Amino acid sequence: MPGTVTIVGQGYVGLPLAQGAANAGWKVWGYDTDPSKVASINDGKSPIDDISDEQLEAMQAAGYEASTDPSCIADSDVVVVCVPTPLGEGGSPDLGAVRGATNTASEQIRRGTTFILESTTYPGTTEEICLPILEAGSGLKSGEDFYLAYSPERVNPGMQEYGIKNTPKLVGGMTPEATESAEAFYASFIDTVVPMNGIKEAETAKLLENTFRHVNIALVNEMAKFCRELDIDIWEVIRGAATKPFGFMKFTPGPGVGGHCIPIDPNYLSYEVRKELGYPFRFVELAQEINNSMPYYVVSRVADLLNDEGKALKGAKVLLLGVTYKKDIADQRQSPAVPVAERFLTYGTDLRYHDPYVSRWNVSQDPHDDTVVLHSVDNVEEAVKEADIVVLLQPHTVYDTAQLALQSKVFFDTVGITRGPDAVRL
Ligand SMILES: NC(=O)c1ccc[n+]([C@@H]2O[C@H](COP(=O)([O-])OP(=O)(O)OC[C@H]3O[C@@H](n4cnc5c(N)ncnc54)[C@H](O)[C@@H]3O)[C@@H](O)[C@H]2O)c1
Repeated sequence: MPGTVTIVGQGYVGLPLAQGAANAGWKVWGYDTDPSKVASINDGKSPIDDISDEQLEAMQAAGYEASTDPSCIADSDVVVVCVPTPLGEGGSPDLGAVRGATNTASEQIRRGTTFILESTTYPGTTEEICLPILEAGSGLKSGEDFYLAYSPERVNPGMQEYGIKNTPKLVGGMTPEATESAEAFYASFIDTVVPMNGIKEAETAKLLENTFRHVNIALVNEMAKFCRELDIDIWEVIRGAATKPFGFMKFTPGPGVGGHCIPIDPNYLSYEVRKELGYPFRFVELAQEINNSMPYYVVSRVADLLNDEGKALKGAKVLLLGVTYKKDIADQRQSPAVPVAERFLTYGTDLRYHDPYVSRWNVSQDPHDDTVVLHSVDNVEEAVKEADIVVLLQPHTVYDTAQLALQSKVFFDTVGITRGPDAVRL
């Protein structure tokens, strides 16, 4: 029987979770420390692509409300924390938001509350960071007075096929009762909930998933580089290998990895391995090195292509298509388009871009850094004709890539979706 839940952090993860719970009949509070985000949500404007304003309105009609007042936690049977876990100084985990949110919750939770951490983090965080904060702040005891669990978020922004409801959810509790309580919460709106034997195993499962992607993307990126030297078409190689119905999973090369998860989460694991055991997690470090080299590889390929036309990078009109980290969404976090653009600018290229989702682009990983700001060209077809080279970084569905390739002087496709002689592929 649904009760009241507070979802702490109303971002890419917290808001869809709030939607799932609200639709299942839970009274949902969306607690967030950002007053402008809360005001905008309560005004009916969704801050993320995956929830439309209409869906937000339906959530509100079902009883959802955002708030900057943490006292909503005191009324809640369940508290779920979905706050950011970025990298801090020197690439170490920054758990400031997790500590802050847990601290806030510790002052509000009551006997019987189930506290669940969803933020991606290194193994041990729930028991070593959250547990002592919660017990000290509340005066309550985990296992006796409240339940503590970890459940990794698996949201994939922009994906239609798998959402909250049909993506299996892992749950690991401090005690069997904590696992059961968290499982009962999620089972009220998620088709498959998978109980885990331990919290650390649930934490590590998430990191394995993301590290798996990171390493396999690095594998094909490295192969793309040497296949070119060997005059082998990597895209045809992958097309062939992907016909095997077992034992192979398709990954494709590209201009680098972006988003909040893949470039960041594996670092949480390698940091913990190095800190606890004193040796490197070599797969992660190698994958990082290869994936981070891809933006520079893209620029070097562009330099070669311009050279073939008797042109230099300096002064060349370079048009980037798509600067978000993923197709068909506006999310720019950790987008490899930034290091690509930065490198072009250091070479003195006449850089332009087009992206239907980004009208004004801070060419920086820091969204508040206004040092270099570009504006999306108005007419993509005109800009394509004018450019010395067009570089496709993100194949948004609105792009008729075959047509744009035909209209361009040189069309460099870094994601391998074009066919035929009008484009050069990575
Ligand atoms: N975005 C994804 O695709 C994705 C996928 C899987 C897992 N994750 C993980 O989920 C977690 C959340 O990511 P996100 O993408 O939703 O982040 P986000 O930046 O979109 O949203 C986080 C929200 O938390 C709020 N916040 C920060 N500190 C707070 C505090 N102390 N109390 C209350 N609110 C606070 C922020 O204002 C923000 O609105 C991260 O650990 C991330 O690694 C993200």
